[in-house]
Amino acid sequence: MHINKEAFGSDFLWGVSTAAYQIEGAHDAHGKGPSIWDIFVKKRNKIFNNQHADMACDFYNRYIEDLELLHRLNIPNYRFSIAWSRIYPDGIGAVNQAGIDFYNRLIDLALELEITPWVTLYHWDLPYALELRGGWLNREVTQWFCQYVKTCVQHFGDRVSHWMVLNEPTVFTAAGYFFGIHAPGKKGLDNFLAAAHHAALCQAYAAAVIKSLYPNSSVGTTFSCSHVEPYSPRQKDIVATQKADVLLNRFFIEPLLGMGYPTKEIKVLRRIEKFMQQHDERDLQFNMDFIGLQNYTREVIRHSYFVPFINAKIVSAKKRKVPTTAMQWEVYPEAMYHILKKFQAYPNIPPLLITENGAAFPDTVVHNQVDDPKRLFYLQQTIAQVLKAKEEGVQVKGYFVWTLLDNFEWAEGYAPRFGLVYVDFNTQQRIVKSSGQWYADFLKNDSSSQFTGSVRNI
Ligand code: BGC
Repeated sequence: MHINKEAFGSDFLWGVSTAAYQIEGAHDAHGKGPSIWDIFVKKRNKIFNNQHADMACDFYNRYIEDLELLHRLNIPNYRFSIAWSRIYPDGIGAVNQAGIDFYNRLIDLALELEITPWVTLYHWDLPYALELRGGWLNREVTQWFCQYVKTCVQHFGDRVSHWMVLNEPTVFTAAGYFFGIHAPGKKGLDNFLAAAHHAALCQAYAAAVIKSLYPNSSVGTTFSCSHVEPYSPRQKDIVATQKADVLLNRFFIEPLLGMGYPTKEIKVLRRIEKFMQQHDERDLQFNMDFIGLQNYTREVIRHSYFVPFINAKIVSAKKRKVPTTAMQWEVYPEAMYHILKKFQAYPNIPPLLITENGAAFPDTVVHNQVDDPKRLFYLQQTIAQVLKAKEEGVQVKGYFVWTLLDNFEWAEGYAPRFGLVYVDFNTQQRIVKSSGQWYADFLKNDSSSQFTGSVRNI
């Protein structure tokens, strides 16, 4: 079957996603306060080669050429995040007008170029001043966050009508507060549960703030999700897989849908109740206009006596000897189909959007060109899986590639390249990769961009 853009219908939303800390640079320009990431990256041996994002893609200074590039690539929707500490250098208190001005310029130019802005309000860069007051562990974060959200919506809501409250709460609470491998580097179950509960409250509270100011806006939030499969049909592996599913896929969506936290499979998660107040369970629920799903791979799970709390572990792609990306994630486009079916099966689930999907592979520049067939293949095959789910009735309304530019990939530094556009971090030169050119042609509905979704059981 030949796939082109038309197969998705004319109202399907196509776009790309980015995040402030990963691209903006200008970490202390024009009154911006430090975020937890600005501080975390300066600690020894936290980030690959001790890299940081002080400059990153210098998007703060180059947003004009980068938006023009988006326009040239025919990309109609652009998801980006606002850096909280550009708006509020101390997290709360005085607003930094220069920060407001920057996002005003960005939004205005996008609209002028007929690119619709999709704004993420929190993509992991908590103001450091708030971390000093307990950060996500302090329940007051819900008030700080709502104030920040209100300010953003008051300033930008006349032109922005698509909002995403959080980016992947599972990842920033688990990596930042349980494993300590992301900012702010905290560890332990109680830290994770406190951060998770406050983030879950923020999802619902902040969505209500946006709706109260702009009732017609479209409000969602985004979740990381992985298709999970047991390593073997043994009962122990099946149970382990169900537990991994709770943590990887179910933990934040279920309270949002009014189902409460999924604690049946992992009893120790009931400790979250320690952080809950009387009406919290009710307050965690919110009718979002859409749910953003972000999928990159599948995980194969097996029982393990050695892993505390869940007795489950991921069997790495390397161990399974399957093809991987530069992140060591299995190349498995079919995961997208399974994830869409899984989330669609929740009763009363709002429409779904794929707000991130992409792949990192090593890229080389030859004669000023970057040919990236592996990324191209992955994107096409995943898009084919989105179509398959859509044709089976899944309410999936759009697809955003992660990401426009090669950028700062958190703990992995600049090593993994996810961009449709190559960035030379010494010169800041941008080179559109062949995958980027293909996406541009596909979005123009150029017949040369048609492809066949034909890998493994599609
Ligand atoms: C995050 C991005 C990240 C991407 C690839 C998602 O978890 O939202 O910030 O760069 O995946 O790892």
